[in-house]
Amino acid sequence: MRIDIITIFPEMFAGWFDHSIVKRARKKGLAEIHLHNLRDFATSKHRNVDDYPFGGGSGMVMMAQPIADCIDHLKKERNYDEVIFLTPDGEIFNQPMTNKLSLAENLIMLCGHYKGVDERIREHYVTMEVSIGNYVLSGGELAAAVICNSIIRLIPGVLSDETSALDDSFQDNLISPPVYTRPANFNGLKVPDVLLSGNEALIRQWRSVQALLRTRKRRPGMLED
Ligand code: ADE
Repeated sequence: MRIDIITIFPEMFAGWFDHSIVKRARKKGLAEIHLHNLRDFATSKHRNVDDYPFGGGSGMVMMAQPIADCIDHLKKERNYDEVIFLTPDGEIFNQPMTNKLSLAENLIMLCGHYKGVDERIREHYVTMEVSIGNYVLSGGELAAAVICNSIIRLIPGVLSDETSALDDSFQDNLISPPVYTRPANFNGLKVPDVLLSGNEALIRQWRSVQALLRTRKRRPGMLED
């Protein structure tokens, strides 16, 4: 998979893609991430990428031209499955969305800033608008990094134990059950006996019940779905 990220702060991404699973995916050639500085596509003398909103009001608006030129430049080279705009008023990101996106070959992610981007970009270039939650970040970069992380770990061959992604919370509309490791007795706090029993059927049953109880307590809406 190839992901092209359009941003005014490419330096912000340093680190997020250089560790752990995303680093491994890149090393194995399963994921490529390309950062594009939007200012490189600005044509004005001062390389401006924003301007005052028509009709007045506070804040600046990201101009259409540099974004359109950057996307056109990328699209000349290859086809893209989606052009994703990260914005607080987008569709809330969730596990089904990341499952679907992990099957894509090429994605563009556009990181918004200021008051937003010129609506004509949203109407004519963007194919998907995504939010990582009902709160406002200073820009779309963190959201893009979150989404990249969540997608890349699902690409076949990225996780060493392929089945572990299937057991993730949310994959089957359930939250994962609690997990424990050694010691079995930590300062008097004991691991549930069933996990030490060696009885696989009982352990499976216990985990299913715990997953249901946790989901009912923490995400009751998921059970209704
Ligand atoms: N940009 C600013 N806030 C955001 C959010 N919550 N999700 C996605 N992009 C954003």
